This record gives sequence, structure tokens and C-alpha cells, in this order.
Amino acid sequence: MRIGVFAPVFLKPERHLGQTKSVNNAFIAKACSRLLSAAAFAICVCVSIGAASTQSSAARAHPDSFYLARGINPHPVKLSHPEVEPLSAMAELGRKLFFDSDLSGSGKLSCSSCHDPAHAYGPPGADSVMVNGGSDMHTAGFRAVPSLGYLYRQPAFRIAPDISGDDLAPNYQQQASLAAIHAKVLKSAAAPQAAATNLVPQGGLFWDGRVDTLQQQANGPVFNPAEMAANTSDVAKKLEQPVYADDLRALFGASIFENPQHTLAEAMFAIGRYQIEEPSFHAFTSKYDAWLAGHARFTPAETRGYLAFNDPMKGNCAGCHLSKPTADGLPPLFTDFQYEALGVPRNKAIPANSDPAYFDLGICGPYRTNMSDQTQYCAMFLTPSLRNTATRKVFFHNGVFHTLDEVLDWYVNRDLKPEKFYPRDASGAVVKYDDIPEKYRANVDTVDAPFNRKPGDKPALNKREMQDIIAFLRALNDGYGSVAH
Ligand code: HEC
Ligand code: HEC
Repeated sequence: MRIGVFAPVFLKPERHLGQTKSVNNAFIAKACSRLLSAAAFAICVCVSIGAASTQSSAARAHPDSFYLARGINPHPVKLSHPEVEPLSAMAELGRKLFFDSDLSGSGKLSCSSCHDPAHAYGPPGADSVMVNGGSDMHTAGFRAVPSLGYLYRQPAFRIAPDISGDDLAPNYQQQASLAAIHAKVLKSAAAPQAAATNLVPQGGLFWDGRVDTLQQQANGPVFNPAEMAANTSDVAKKLEQPVYADDLRALFGASIFENPQHTLAEAMFAIGRYQIEEPSFHAFTSKYDAWLAGHARFTPAETRGYLAFNDPMKGNCAGCHLSKPTADGLPPLFTDFQYEALGVPRNKAIPANSDPAYFDLGICGPYRTNMSDQTQYCAMFLTPSLRNTATRKVFFHNGVFHTLDEVLDWYVNRDLKPEKFYPRDASGAVVKYDDIPEKYRANVDTVDAPFNRKPGDKPALNKREMQDIIAFLRALNDGYGSVAH
């Protein structure tokens, strides 16, 4: 596996797991000193016991349920977060480019117009797809704008373990035929790491994984006619303007402007660098991060939501949206980087969908072009991180849902009450998974909970549990504490 080129920069050599006692107690002592009543003091003592009990489970005074009932993490951990350092000159250049609308064909769109820092680097509004792209500012996109947050550990695209060696281009046909003889591992929140051995598509950027690294990706939107709609020589000329020329020469040498392709590639490299170095792309300041470290208490709804999210018999969300720190002490990103066909309903709000013959099939095309004959992957899309998802108003690759209530309702009732989400055909039958041509509908996941229900079964979650999970998802929004915990 090739991890994104820059990822290792962040991996601190030292690990802090299990060394939390003094930190937590100092924090709690400070918090306690602010609370005066006897009752509050009693609570603080409990918190203190909880925090101090990380060394070994035998030393803990109470079972996990005791702490959870009080909203406390029974096993607080200190995790490795990306280093926060001043931006390098390269990343500074990338920052300027990220916010510069002059680079677009219309002169009005920058990366930040769609990936808005005020909206967790996701779309600023509730439109399913951006409608103001292109050189005329009226060209609609084809997919929902994903957040650019938490991509710093995104591995490169692959299907099977890299059998071709790092120096050769991966042979996806070979990988796919190897994968075909292996049964897919069931995804269970009880043992989410088991699915890591799955020989299924994983890694990569964009909803279909067609690009591997952050600097490769930036070429896409700049030239995509539905996005920034620029052309190479125009952009290269803009980069020769004084605002960039000196920086580019200083960083890449005097010959940087000799070849426009090369100028552009280096500029995009700088944008990629900005997304890696700028801390707000991976802030880890959510309440969940604070809770993991033993510095925050969940409300009762958040605790119930946390448990339902991780319960393989309920939400089973953590089967794919991994919620636990990794074995080597990295904070969870709420994705397993794998692809799934979930069969979300077709979205009429996407102009391209007015053509009944048009289908966005993710890995097998049309935007990704090197896997179109691997039809077993048709309709599979990348599992996104759920960090900051509760700040979004647009969900799934086609932006068909606009609230988390709709998302949860669909997860629970997709196969129990399909008539709520899918249209009927001429004979009155409900067309489940209507955004996928009939011949590929068998690719839809019907085995991993909560998708393993049949009509008449008990729903995986009741109404309150759905609200509880939403409360937990809100605890994944950054901005609870100002610094990484
Ligand atoms: C008009 C809106 C728009 C603009 C402007 C735009 N993007 Fe995007 N971006 C998108 C959409 C839509 C996608 C998803 C496309 C897909 O999956 O095929 C995306 C995907 C991405 C991804 C992949 C994210 C992931 O989770 O895999 C990255 C990285 C990215 N854009 C960076 C940029 C950069 C850097 C710029 C500026 C050079 C930029 N974008 C400009 C709309 C936009
Ligand atoms: C079998 C794997 C799997 C399970 C289990 C799963 N998800 Fe997902 N989730 C995905 C994939 C894949 C997508 C993207 C699908 C698409 O866009 O077509 C997704 C998308 C989402 C999104 C939209 C995020 C965005 O940025 O658009 C939310 C919210 C979400 N999941 C929440 C949940 C919750 C809550 C649960 C548990 C009730 C859950 N997921 C269970 C795989 C899974």
C-alpha cells in the first residue's frame, strides 16, 4: 500500500497510548476547582477515578457501563495528531492559489467557493450539486461536493494488496480477478478491523477513487468544464503574474515557466501541500476527540448514539465508518476507505439525470474510465468520513438527501419501506435502487447490517435511536475545543 506522499510527515514517532493519567488528572483538578458545590465535587471524584483508570482494566474501580452511564470514556487515550507548524513557503503559495478565483475560466470561482472553509471545506449551501460552475457560471456539476477535511491519511486506490510492486503502475484487471476468488468479509462494528483484509476497492480520492494524491487531484477541478473550466495556457499565464511569479521561481527554479504543463503541475503540488499542512483540514477538535482523551462528557443522547452507532445489531455504522483509534494510536477518521454500492435513490435535482439513459456508476464510470469492464464494482462509491458531516446539507455522492433525519430514515427503512424512497414503475411495483441499471442492482449491499433487513423485519433502529445517532454525529463536528486533544 502506498500512503499519500506526505502522510508520514505527520506520524509522530512517539506513541502516547496508556500515558494519560497525569494529563487527565491535571485537567480534572482544574475543572473541579471551578466547581464549588459538594454534589459537583462528588462527580469530579468519579471523573477522576475514570480518568485514572486507563492503565489496566483490572485496576479500574467499576465496569465500563458505570462510566458510560455518566457520559465518560472508560478508556481515555492520548492519540497522535498531525504536528501544527507554520506553513512552509510551498503551502503558503498553495493557500493563495486555493482562494484565487482568477484561476477559473469565469474569474469567479476558487477552490474555496465549493470547498468552503466555513463549511468544513464542503459545499456552502444545500444544492445537491454546485450549479454555478463553468466559464458561464451556470454549468451544473454531476456529484455532491465532498469535504476536503481529513484526507491526510487517504491511501492510494487499490483493489488487492499491491502485487505489481511499487514501481509499476498497478494492474487493476489482475487485482480484480484475484479479488473475485475471495469472499467478501462481512462488515461488523463488533470487529471492524476484520474487513481491512477485504479484497475490495479501497483508497483514492473523489467519489470513484480515480485520483490518488492531493496534488494530482487539483488538476481535475481547474480544467473540469463543470467546475473551474480553465485551460492550461490561461492558467499558466496567470501564474506568471507578479503575485505568483516570484514565489514560483523561488520554489521551483528559474525555468519554471518554460513549460505550461510543468508550471501547473507544480502549482497544484503547492495546493496539495496546503491541504496537508493547514491544520484546519484535520483539526481533531470535536467533542468526540475530547471525549476520547477523557476531557469531555457525553450527554445521555450522545452516549446512547455512540453505543447504537457501534452496536452491530443496531446501526452497525462503525462497520464501515470506523470509530475507534487505530492500533498505532491515530485518531479514527470514520471511514474504512472502502467502496460500497448502497443504492441511494436517483436525484432528479441533478440536470444530467433528466436523461434516463445516464447513470453515475462510480468506480465503473463514466468519470472514472479505467475500470468500466469491472461491472462487479458498478455503483460503488467511496465511504466518506463522517467528521463534520452534521454541518452538511447535502448527503451521499448524488446529494439526494439534505438532512440527517432523511439519511437515517433511509438507512433503516431502505428495504423495509422502499416505497418511501423509490418511484413505482408502470405496473405499480416499487423500483428499488432506481439510480442503478437493473443488471447491476445485485451489487447493492444487502448483507451488512443495517442493510440485512427484509420487509416485515424489526427496524434496526427506532426513532429515538436515530435521533441519538444524530446527536452523536454532531459530536463529530470540529470546534468543540480550540486545540487538538
Ligand atoms: C464548482 C465546484 C468545485 C470547485 C470550484 C472545486 N471543486 Fe473540488 N470537488 C468538487 C466536486 C463536485 C468533487 C467530487 C467530484 C467527483 O467525485 O467526481 C470534488 C472533489 C475534490 C477532491 C476529492 C475529495 C475527496 O473526498 O475525495 C479534492 C481533493 C478537491 N475536490 C480539491 C479541489 C481543489 C484543490 C480545487 C481548486 C483547485 C477544487 N477542488 C475546486 C467541486 C469543486
Ligand atoms: C456497509 C458500509 C456502511 C455502513 C454499515 C454505513 N455506511 Fe454510511 N456510508 C457508506 C458509503 C459507501 C457511503 C457513500 C455512499 C454514496 O454516496 O453512494 C456512506 C455515506 C454516509 C453519509 C453521507 C456522508 C456525506 O458526506 O455525504 C452519512 C451521513 C452516513 N453514511 C452515515 C451512516 C450511519 C449513521 C450509519 C449507521 C446507521 C452508516 N452510515 C452505516 C457506507 C456505510
